Amino acid sequence: TAPIVRTLPELRQMTRSWQLAGERIGVVPTMGALHDGHLSLVARAKEMSDRVIVTIFVNPKQFNSPEDLANYPRTEHEDARKLERFAVDAIYVPDGAQMYPDGFATTVSVDGLTNVLCGAHRPGHFDGVATVVTKLFTQTSADLAFFGEKDFQQLQVVRRLARDLDLGVEVVGCPTIREIDGLAMSSRNLLLSDQARSRASALNEVMEDMADKLGQGAAMDDLLPKAQSRLAAAGFGDIDYLEMRTKDTLTLIERADTPARLFAAVYMAGVRLIDNIDVPVA
Ligand code: PAJ
Repeated sequence: TAPIVRTLPELRQMTRSWQLAGERIGVVPTMGALHDGHLSLVARAKEMSDRVIVTIFVNPKQFNSPEDLANYPRTEHEDARKLERFAVDAIYVPDGAQMYPDGFATTVSVDGLTNVLCGAHRPGHFDGVATVVTKLFTQTSADLAFFGEKDFQQLQVVRRLARDLDLGVEVVGCPTIREIDGLAMSSRNLLLSDQARSRASALNEVMEDMADKLGQGAAMDDLLPKAQSRLAAAGFGDIDYLEMRTKDTLTLIERADTPARLFAAVYMAGVRLIDNIDVPVA
């Protein structure tokens, strides 16, 4: 079973010897509560890297409320067990003092990309993500890092910061893994009641229908009223956003005349669910 490493000196000792041997280090950053979505990133990392480090750290800086942070599932023992079959080289589980010692004062902030979508609805969230990801990249000496398209905006933010700060990390985006009914896998799905869970599949259905029509040249404005009423009928509450944006700069667009994705953040029984899918160019 993979060693669980809790301190930076211990981690450095391992990565130094790997680097001396010329081995490429692949890193999969997570907050734990691992599901098949996370594990797909680990499988990809194993294929593409000589050494694989999975990091587990529930990053307080990226949560918007203390309750959300307190309620986040923590399942380290099961996580380590799920990783066994992948034979990763280390599981890095730093504590809060290791990541943010007293006096910690630096923030990594990515402009532009973070002003929209989740950035507009979760103040400070992407600063927290960018700061912790920068630290995890440097702590692990990552050559490659694996991120899910499930969090598409996060993936683009991480690509940008890796380039801007010359971190020397190749960021690899991996497809969203879904439940049989289409719901994107997420640690937050566990917070849904059985009824809410079964209703939640409507989100992906509605989005797939919209993407089809957008690919045939329809405009967002014409599709939104019906999409909103279908979501309401399925039991969804507030919609934070339901928007089509370009893939690279996340610019809002009305018609799919350039490579685009459809993005949604909606509440089901008080749980905030996000999803995004590819839109074929019309
Ligand atoms: P977490 O939510 O644990 O997700 C870790 C990684 O798994 C992210 O790259 C995320 O996009 C990916 N992932 C989650 N669900 C997925 C799915 N259904 N299919 C494919 N990939 C999926 O994202 C974070 O943690 C944090 O913000 C982190 C990057 C670790 C920084 O704290």
